[in-house]
Amino acid sequence: MPMMTQIPTEAKIVLTGGKDFWHTHAVEEAGLPQVVLTDGPHGVRLQDGEAAELGLRQAIPATCFPPAVALASSWDPALVEQVGQALGEECQALGVGILLGPGMNIKRSPLCGRNFEYFSEDPLLSGAMAAGMIEGVQSQGVGTSVKHFAANNQETDRQRRDSQIDERTLREIYLRGFGKAIRQAKPWTVMCSYNRLNGTYASENHWLLTDILRGEWGYEGFVMSDWGAVHDRVTSLIAGLDLEMPVNDDHERATTRALAAGAIDPEVIDQAYARIEAVLRKVVDGSRGADDGAGFDVIAHHDLARQVAEQSIVLLTNDGVLPLERDVKVGVIGEFARTPRYQGAGSSRVNPTRLDNALASIEAIVGHEVPFAPGFITATGQTLPPDAHDQAVALASEVEVAVVFLGLGEDHESEGFDRTTMDLPSEQLALVDDILAVNRNVVVVLANGAAVLLPFGDRVRAVVEGWLPGQAGGAALAKVVYGLVNPSGKLAETIPLRLQDVPSHVHFPGDRTGVRYGEGLFAGYRGYDATQTPVAFPFGHGLSYTSFAYSGLTVTPVAGRSSGESTVEAELVPPPTTAMNITVTVTNTGQRAGAEVVQVYVGLPASKVVRVPRELKGFAKVVLEPGQSVPVEITVSAEDLAYWSVAEQSWLVEGGEYVVMVGSSSRDLRLSQTVSLSGDEPWRPLTMESTLGEAMANPVFAQAVAQAQGGVFGEVGADSETVRMMIDSPLSVIAGFSSLGAQIQGLLDQVNATGGRPGPR
Ligand code: BGC
Repeated sequence: MPMMTQIPTEAKIVLTGGKDFWHTHAVEEAGLPQVVLTDGPHGVRLQDGEAAELGLRQAIPATCFPPAVALASSWDPALVEQVGQALGEECQALGVGILLGPGMNIKRSPLCGRNFEYFSEDPLLSGAMAAGMIEGVQSQGVGTSVKHFAANNQETDRQRRDSQIDERTLREIYLRGFGKAIRQAKPWTVMCSYNRLNGTYASENHWLLTDILRGEWGYEGFVMSDWGAVHDRVTSLIAGLDLEMPVNDDHERATTRALAAGAIDPEVIDQAYARIEAVLRKVVDGSRGADDGAGFDVIAHHDLARQVAEQSIVLLTNDGVLPLERDVKVGVIGEFARTPRYQGAGSSRVNPTRLDNALASIEAIVGHEVPFAPGFITATGQTLPPDAHDQAVALASEVEVAVVFLGLGEDHESEGFDRTTMDLPSEQLALVDDILAVNRNVVVVLANGAAVLLPFGDRVRAVVEGWLPGQAGGAALAKVVYGLVNPSGKLAETIPLRLQDVPSHVHFPGDRTGVRYGEGLFAGYRGYDATQTPVAFPFGHGLSYTSFAYSGLTVTPVAGRSSGESTVEAELVPPPTTAMNITVTVTNTGQRAGAEVVQVYVGLPASKVVRVPRELKGFAKVVLEPGQSVPVEITVSAEDLAYWSVAEQSWLVEGGEYVVMVGSSSRDLRLSQTVSLSGDEPWRPLTMESTLGEAMANPVFAQAVAQAQGGVFGEVGADSETVRMMIDSPLSVIAGFSSLGAQIQGLLDQVNATGGRPGPR
């Protein structure tokens, strides 16, 4: 094989663009065949030549696992890793080298049409889930492409819109999950998003693609564009993009011209080529050869899809009506029971190998036919008898329990557009009202890719949130309804009471000038909690058929640093405590085996930077037999505790009294404990720009003021009213009107010499 340098730079340009929609170019001189890249993320959507002409719908059959919205509700990264392994096996069987996923943008608004493809409104949970998926797929010698990097949190105008985000919010909410997944799981590729980020297209954003991704996170794979996201390949290559997808001959020619004209450094192209080549070589080395005929185990993967769906279903309410006994006379209502909505629409659509529906699965469990009425149409083009609504109500009046399957059709949510409402279709809401008028025993089962409002929530006896549960979801839902599976899913996104309560609401989706992330750090539950806004179901919520008790919380500070180097002089400050170990005992106090997701939230009430009341900092899913107790250990790392200091341009753990809250949801916190961390903020000298308050926090300064006789400091020392009034005044201002500049500076010099440490703000 020739050395890389033997290929002229000009020839390398070819590899920086796709060969067609789904292939990279082959490089004969380097012995590299073309490689297949395909969607993704929750199933392999491989179009063969003929199928490609049929558009998005047709692809070679592959297992449709639950999309990210459901996967995340399992709160189980190990389970998601298993899905990843199965996806990797299917890629191998179908000859796919890189699977285009996972998608991991933050669910900033429930209206985002693509939320079904994303994990959560929380970066820690998103990062953990994405890492599981990446590790699983790549364990099979197949690459992933974590996407859409970054700040692609809506579909409206997604190919142009400028996401305008302040630096701290961008770091802590929108990049944090990516950073976590990328550093932990090392995806072979990253897909940059269509949108602009603070004025610059993601595909041309040097700060994003080079400074952050490679510089800070040490990323070594290659960056590809979303399909059509490159406007000028030369600018993109210089920014750090390596592969433009799909094919664009004009851009290839323009790059060749730019090279000849000296408008791009050959090294930039050499480097992009080298990164792509290195990954493609891994693909080739990992390939088991699709034509070995081994295929994949369709049945085992269908079973896995069902088990995952079982772990992902969230029981939102239940007054005890669930689980149903088999001999209860039920009527099943709603077309979704017969024609399931189990995945989202758009580029991620998989052609499933088989498809379970809930109606047939319920019949299989009870052992006989169950009366059914479709009630309403779920998709454009469907026809139902004009009296379908009345037939459904009539059926409800004849049975003990009406199990009503409601949800959103593909007309309502899809890649490519956002919803404008969180309501379920009005005919479905009217149907529930009319059913409730004839039968109070109603169980609602939902199929939707993002949160919907549930105006009937407290009038029905139970609500089961199935999300989009993949091709085996119907069977999983039936098993939950009949108690063959004890639900353990937890919400990875808040379900609000009203659309206008959503923290991003007034800023979403922006306009042609951009979308301002005006809610800042207060996205999702962070915002509802800060304003103490009541919600329908909080982040982390999910019921079980058993109950769990929490006891024995201990929190131990751990020494360490949030970011690499120490800026603290070792002899002045003892090793900082910046992390914590948490242990808690969880007991199954009910009659059934079940799983609980133990959630750790952390707040710092006296923080000197803007903070949300509490943030998820750790979680663990445990399975318990009735009566069983287990100790659960969760470590909160310095990296996860740190905030982004704009002043210091660094991640820092602030010192202070942290409140650690442990419980079953973000609003069902059972135990809490305060722990003192010293933090690792660097030493910062007091200056004339420091306020009186900041200076007084320093014991040496405070003592000097207390001892001062006469003048401004005499007054300050003697009079608390003066202190209160001037507490936020910079010392320079006080110096100005007291003519004490030299004295104050002298005091500061004395204080600074002792290493007093007011932290950065
Ligand atoms: C989507 C990507 C997808 C690509 C290829 C784009 O429109 O945003 O997520 O991987 O198409 O289908």
